[in-house]
Amino acid sequence: MGTALPPGALVLGIESSCDETGVGLVAGGKLLGECTATSMDAHARFGGIVPEVAARAHLESMVPAVRTALKRAGIDKSDVEAVAVTAGPGLATALTVGIAAAKAYAIALGVPLIGVHHLAGHVAADTLDHGPLPERSVGLVVSGGHTSLLMLGDLARDPITHLGDTADDAAGEAFDKVARLLGLGYPGGPALSKAALDGDPDAIRFPRANVGKYGFSFSGLKSAVARWVEAAEGPLPVADIAASFQEAVCDVLTAKAVAACTDHGVDTLVIAGGVAANRRLRDLAEARCAERGITLRVPAPRLCTDNGAMIAAVGSMLVDAGAPWAPPGLSADSSAPLTAAALHPVR
Ligand code: KG4
Ligand code: ZN
Repeated sequence: MGTALPPGALVLGIESSCDETGVGLVAGGKLLGECTATSMDAHARFGGIVPEVAARAHLESMVPAVRTALKRAGIDKSDVEAVAVTAGPGLATALTVGIAAAKAYAIALGVPLIGVHHLAGHVAADTLDHGPLPERSVGLVVSGGHTSLLMLGDLARDPITHLGDTADDAAGEAFDKVARLLGLGYPGGPALSKAALDGDPDAIRFPRANVGKYGFSFSGLKSAVARWVEAAEGPLPVADIAASFQEAVCDVLTAKAVAACTDHGVDTLVIAGGVAANRRLRDLAEARCAERGITLRVPAPRLCTDNGAMIAAVGSMLVDAGAPWAPPGLSADSSAPLTAAALHPVR
């Protein structure tokens, strides 16, 4: 089935893969309104996300979040022309709530449903700030569950190829685990980067793993920090450890991303996902891209972490490209590999 919608159709996007209930409204690549509710506080005392708690929170937040996004955009729900939803990857129970809600809205409004890949949504977020992507770009997606270096074409039409991935922990996961080790709390990324502000990035030389040309590995780095902390005597220099760890992560990520651009003759690098909110990563990437004449694109920090606008953005691209609709049996795929922006698993 293909969408017979005119270009610029109004797309409602729904995101529920983790602990954020995100809703966005996008038409023709322009963000009209959004709302994000988070259950982060409910997980903080467990030091990580509890899937059932997240799913219950999505259930409670979904309808109010849709209403708020519509109100902020000054739009009536009857104006929505398509519904896009994250079909994976993510927590199965959490994804299922978003998919059920998206199906209900699509059926009630009599509009098509489109399932999308969460990580393609992260990349698409950048188009809300900086307009359409060029014909070719390299994408570095760095989130709590994934770290991938990608070759991108037309996000809505072309397959997505992986130049490299992490062999073990994701970059965000490493931030979260090291933050926990240092007693900085949850979520770890923002807490660790805040602690790093007062530290010296050259205080400790933590290892930079070299897994093939474009591959990553962060579990050795995490262990190196743990060993350093165990061996330390006296009060822990938390700021220096945080800054040195952050430097090791950002150094590897930016060096490989820039090398991928240079090697493949690509002049645009897009960095997306929660870790792209990190100030040091943004600054180092900017400096290294400038040296090589590469254009760096990174969404505004609020669009880097999970949100509904990014799902509406990728939905809007797919609708405008005339992509197929999701089948009625659309279901969650919690570990879906990233091969294309549309994702239509049926179990
Ligand atoms: O993309 P995202 O919101 O959710 C997933 O799809 O996983 O990414 C969340 C991850 C978490 O690991 C979080 O600690 C990390 O992004 N993160 C950061 C920062 N803000 C969020 N990591 C480093 N520095 C930050 N400022
Ligand atoms: Zn994400």
